[in-house]
Amino acid sequence: MSQSTSMASLSESIKAEIRSGRWGSFLNAGSPADRAEAQRIALKESRLGIPLLFGRDVIHGYHTIFPIPLGQAASWDPELIEQAARTAAIEASTEGIRWAFAPMIDIARDPRWGRIAESPGEDPYIASVAGVAVVRGFQGASLANPSSVAASIKHFAGYGAAEAGRDYASTWIPEVLLRDVYLRPFQACVEAGAATVMTAFSALNGVPATGNPFLLRQILRSEWKYDGMVVSDYTAVKELVPHGYASDDADAARLAFRAGVDMEMVSTTYYDHLKSLIASGQVPLAEVDDAVRNILRLKYRLGLFDQPIPAPAHSAVTPESRALAQRLATESAVLLKNDGNLLPLAETVGSVAVIGPLADSPVDQMGTWVMDARPEDVRTPFAALRQMLGDARVLYAPGLKNSRDTDPSGFEAAVNVARRADVVLLFLGEEQILSGEARSRAFLDLPGAQAALAAEIAGAGKPVVAIIQAGRPLTFHQTASQVRAVLWSFHPGTMGGPAIADLLFGRAVPSGKLTVTFPRTVGQVPIYYAHLSTGRPASLSELGIPMGNPTNPTGYTSKYIDVDFTPVYPFGYGLSYTEFTYSNLRLSNSALTQDGALIVSADVSNGGQRAAAEVVQLYVHPVAASVVQPVRLLKGFRRVSLKPGETQTVRFTLRAADLSFHNQQMQLVAEPGRYQVWIAPDSVRGLESEFILR
Ligand code: BGC
Repeated sequence: MSQSTSMASLSESIKAEIRSGRWGSFLNAGSPADRAEAQRIALKESRLGIPLLFGRDVIHGYHTIFPIPLGQAASWDPELIEQAARTAAIEASTEGIRWAFAPMIDIARDPRWGRIAESPGEDPYIASVAGVAVVRGFQGASLANPSSVAASIKHFAGYGAAEAGRDYASTWIPEVLLRDVYLRPFQACVEAGAATVMTAFSALNGVPATGNPFLLRQILRSEWKYDGMVVSDYTAVKELVPHGYASDDADAARLAFRAGVDMEMVSTTYYDHLKSLIASGQVPLAEVDDAVRNILRLKYRLGLFDQPIPAPAHSAVTPESRALAQRLATESAVLLKNDGNLLPLAETVGSVAVIGPLADSPVDQMGTWVMDARPEDVRTPFAALRQMLGDARVLYAPGLKNSRDTDPSGFEAAVNVARRADVVLLFLGEEQILSGEARSRAFLDLPGAQAALAAEIAGAGKPVVAIIQAGRPLTFHQTASQVRAVLWSFHPGTMGGPAIADLLFGRAVPSGKLTVTFPRTVGQVPIYYAHLSTGRPASLSELGIPMGNPTNPTGYTSKYIDVDFTPVYPFGYGLSYTEFTYSNLRLSNSALTQDGALIVSADVSNGGQRAAAEVVQLYVHPVAASVVQPVRLLKGFRRVSLKPGETQTVRFTLRAADLSFHNQQMQLVAEPGRYQVWIAPDSVRGLESEFILR
């Protein structure tokens, strides 16, 4: 039985255990030399000569760090996401890692959850596209290629729906929602050949995912015919005891194993108890054979049995990986506000004030899960701006030591710097340690005294651009109202600095669009675009409610009395330095048949002065359905590049299968009836038409 454990370095006792056949795989294991030596021992000195598998959290890059996955998704550029994953696979596999614990494709609709940073966001379609891109990038054309790494799609399933956004908390997901939203990206990645699946820490509808036969046996194995390998999350098997599901460790081993977890990560309940569970007949030997087969099949598919004795090798950030990281960071950034077209700035500007705790913080700009990255490889915005404009024109005062700092003693220096400059670039957000696993927040404001710093700086009277690097949507309405422009760059990774500098000065044009809804205030959470209507939907004429201040209640509709019901920035939203117009929506037919195709197209024009890319989105909504469907649901998108003055016709093909959802009997159906359809720049605007599905 294979067991995955951590290994800080290759000790004599671990060597002896490998010889005795005790270890089948390692996570986060040692140095390249340790891995090569461990593999040599397994191949040459263990009884069966079964190769080891080395896994690692290669989440958004290995040495070269790309934007966090939430940022990558905002690029809406699956080819680039795939290339980033390919680069990470090459860097990791060179150092002996052939298994990556990614992509994380948990749908996340709650920004309080710190792991939203690792997810592609709130929508099953974009999560499927982004997840499949990562699987392809990791696994390449053949898993057996030495530069391929096995993907691990995680966390199966529902983990992102943690109650109250608190990590590891339970999830309650009705089966229609589970199948239509949370499982869709997993199914897409299974169909794309994802080699492994990692179970979630969380309980789904009262049954922990790591001991959940419905998820693992019925859906994954029986319905999806999955023949890959299933690994638990870190100590998740043993955690079936504190969950209140298993009575003790042996019981946990039995429940997880019988549910279909092939390999246990870190905890050792299989190692300690499976033998006696088999002897007592509580675990059938045939199931053990199946699990062993699943693990060995993975090792065969990876070509590990055919490899030569490995020699330790190192990989590093290269000019090519930097260029790719910069492109993805550039495409991921979302321009949220640009009053009076303050941006782009002219490179002839006299001087700029660089202020804020995230202007020059290499570790923070990389974001969560970057254990193989080196801060010295990172180019910060401060460094990039000095390179672009020359040291003399870039004045710098951080104002705060880090994003949580509440000490205002640096404000005065920052305000002085702001006064001396022509424009202020204010770098705010969340430092690295505030998002990721076990980093849930109950407040979504800018942490520490950043809002106060922004207010002081705004008072200096110079135009201010806020550049926000964060792992999750934040609520920052006061700051947003005090600055002229807001560029949201997520945690942009190794090359975030040059990407941001290029965007600010117009060497690049923002094209990212949000894949997660930004609430006005935490009290609106969960808020996401693909919600259902109600019998009493609020109307746009009811907007204008002052934030936090109850108005005289009017109208019995679904809204708040102390804040607008709409988000501050909707899903799909992002500005450009040019103006795109949408026109001439047309359908190839007024009706679609169950086996036919409908072409939906529109003209998109660049009316501005700059070449730029626009993410054109396709949404649908069945007017009436046997299970009520979201007010809009994303069904396609195109990223189109348009020269100034250029018009392109953007075409989408819709088939009945694209319209399908689960009915009350859990059948996947495309129900006949009327459908609204939009080609749109985001989830709230766009051109609308209608067709009939027969
Ligand atoms: C996380 C996983 C990760 C694993 C191994 C767990 O705490 O939930 O996503 O892959 O650790 O490091």
